[in-house]
Amino acid sequence: MGPDAVAIIPGAGLVGRSNDTHYRFRQDSDFWYLTGFDYPDATAIFSTKPGASPFTLFVQARDPTAEVWTGYRPGVEGAVADYAADKAEESASLMGELAGLVEGAQRLFHALGRRPEIDQKLIEIQDALRMQSRRGASPPNEWVDPRTILHEMRLFKSEDELELMRTAAEITREGHAEAARTISPGLYEYEIEATLDCVFRKRGGWGPAYESIVAGGANAAILHYVTNNRRLHKGELLLIDAGSEYRGYASDVTRTYPVGGRFEGAGADIYAVVLAAQEAAMEAALPGTTLPALHDLTSRKLVEGMLAIGLLEGDADELIQSEAHRRYYMHGTSHWLGLDVHDSGRYAQGTEPRALEAGMVFTVEPGLYIGENDEAAPEAFRGIGVRIEDDVAIHGKGSENLTSAIPKKMVEVEAWMRAAP
Ligand code: GLY
Ligand code: MN
Ligand code: MN
Repeated sequence: MGPDAVAIIPGAGLVGRSNDTHYRFRQDSDFWYLTGFDYPDATAIFSTKPGASPFTLFVQARDPTAEVWTGYRPGVEGAVADYAADKAEESASLMGELAGLVEGAQRLFHALGRRPEIDQKLIEIQDALRMQSRRGASPPNEWVDPRTILHEMRLFKSEDELELMRTAAEITREGHAEAARTISPGLYEYEIEATLDCVFRKRGGWGPAYESIVAGGANAAILHYVTNNRRLHKGELLLIDAGSEYRGYASDVTRTYPVGGRFEGAGADIYAVVLAAQEAAMEAALPGTTLPALHDLTSRKLVEGMLAIGLLEGDADELIQSEAHRRYYMHGTSHWLGLDVHDSGRYAQGTEPRALEAGMVFTVEPGLYIGENDEAAPEAFRGIGVRIEDDVAIHGKGSENLTSAIPKKMVEVEAWMRAAP
């Protein structure tokens, strides 16, 4: 932050679900990363002003009546005793305290647009300090978005963070294992979703890191299908994109399973093409390469595979040049992964894609999706969607597949589906 700087980092509040009920609380990822404080309506202030408290937490006051309904609150005492705040105050006094906190700072770290009442207050404070300048007051002369620093920090995972992500991946493996054993013709997609939810919670995770996609047959070609209410039929594929969240850290895994237990026909052909592309990218995911390079690689592999099975016709280079493959592969290959499933961190350095470095974690998730009414595709391929997604951590000299224990080769997937609990 540099000297004479103040950062204002607001936490999340409760979000309304219906009438007077709320969604389960999920702390803001930046706030959680910095504080480990998992209660609503808190704000962290970091200050390098001489004599100021370096870390102040504004938190909900203790309230015995409210706590009967919604549970324990650490309050100001707990914020200092258990969360290492140098000082704590009640959230209700934040607005009144802001001027004093900001006064004298040369640089203010604050993300505009997230909490309009804080934005407005800071603008008033800035103006008031400017008008008092003859009396020696000086408003901050630099306003910086704290996310420029924070999101770079979050991009590079520490060993402790990687350990949490390994646990998230292990819980995800168990969830997929249970789902794989459960899949059978006649069940509904939501029954499989329920097995995932059950394991994700039962093993101490926070639940799914994002809405689970459990997409049978042609639903797999709907990229963000989360309705999960259709019946499964023998012979079709079931795409499951589901990962657990563990202490805020996401895993993000897709496997595509044959309903009925055996890959066959056009589904097996598509699966083999996607698997070859995914494995090629996993091998190439090493320090020094870039995410666009991995995407180019999966695109080329997919095009070659589609030519081989007759889903595309023509010349591979020309098809790639004209982006013909995007008809069946319309998303990117990778995204950063961490406290957010689509994690923070810049993807480019200026106009150049950035090189992969130790500590970065990301997904590798090629797929092919052929709509059920896509008349450009041979009929046998219509209504098939396959994605295979793993999570990769880059180390100094190599990489680690965090989700390698979840089978993806066809024979291994089939064996996994037959396995007893
Ligand atoms: N599950 C979201 C994604 O794969 O990006
Ligand atoms: Mn996913
Ligand atoms: Mn993903």
